[in-house]
Amino acid sequence: MNLLVTGGAGYVGGAVARRLRAAGHAVTILDDLSTGHRHNVEGFDFVEADMADREAIEPVLARRRIEGIVHMAALCLVGASVKDPEAYYDHNLRRPLVLLDLALRAGVGRFVFSSSAAVYGEPDATPIEEGHPTRPTNPYGETKLAFERALAWHAAARGTVAVALRYFNAAGSTADGHGEEHAEETHLIPNVLRAALGGEPIAIFGTDYPTPDGTAVRDYVHIEDLAEAHRLALEHAAPTGRLTVFNLGSGQGASVREVIDTARRVTGRPVPVVEAARRSGDPARLVASHARAGKVLGWRATRVDLAGIIESAWRFAQRGVSGSR
Ligand code: UFG
Repeated sequence: MNLLVTGGAGYVGGAVARRLRAAGHAVTILDDLSTGHRHNVEGFDFVEADMADREAIEPVLARRRIEGIVHMAALCLVGASVKDPEAYYDHNLRRPLVLLDLALRAGVGRFVFSSSAAVYGEPDATPIEEGHPTRPTNPYGETKLAFERALAWHAAARGTVAVALRYFNAAGSTADGHGEEHAEETHLIPNVLRAALGGEPIAIFGTDYPTPDGTAVRDYVHIEDLAEAHRLALEHAAPTGRLTVFNLGSGQGASVREVIDTARRVTGRPVPVVEAARRSGDPARLVASHARAGKVLGWRATRVDLAGIIESAWRFAQRGVSGSR
């Protein structure tokens, strides 16, 4: 399939682009490099542009005869979204709506969208199924949900294939050395590993959550498993005319303290911690039910061992590139 992969210069996007290329698809990456890295797109057909730049994108869709779009370019930080909601509405809703319009005009029949567990907000119970009510607790989740809804109406009106993949917490690095290197790192695992490397102590945001050890619980899912789910979502015979939604998580929860303890064991190093207040917008517990992805796509996270996930992130962190651009 001729595919346009937006956000392919990023962490999850880079892993997905590599997996799709390895599966034989013709991949063009579209990224404005605002947070992604040029070295992640080396060897790919690459277009450096904003996804809402009509003049830049229109000819790409036509000349490459794009049949499917995997849309991953986004702002993706819960805490930042609470502080700067306008930017999240701009990058995660307004610009993607332009991209969707361009897709419509170009007759692109498949659209796979990177959504998020953040659409659920604070769940009534875990594991969370796709039919669980969506009540986002931050602008990040709100904007992801808003675009999902636009995509659903687009699919209904145009008879296209539309899939939303709700990621839980992407983690780890790929076997060929692709990993997490955000300029301003806010994610738990890379920051814990930075502390293990002698950096600042890791701040535990909230120790009074209604969880067994008082710290927030998340479902960490390896990026190679996430990448494989995108391949399956593109290749399976998805229904036309409606949005299909899948949770992508391991089905297992780990608390912040469990992540830190596991990192101590994996690295064999001390990880200094400081206890801090809750981070605004953070739900207490997000753990996926992956039953639907298993049943419909035949997908299952294969790297579910937290120590193994952290070990793969540690291999990448030790290369000393984390945080560099
Ligand atoms: N945390 C800390 N200290 C840190 C960093 C994080 O205690 O230095 C805590 C957070 O408060 C949270 C947990 O660790 O409770 C995980 O935080 P991350 O920042 O690693 O990830 P989030 O759960 O906030 O968000 C991530 C992605 C979102 C996605 C979400 C889905 O960034 O895009 O997972 O669960 F929506």
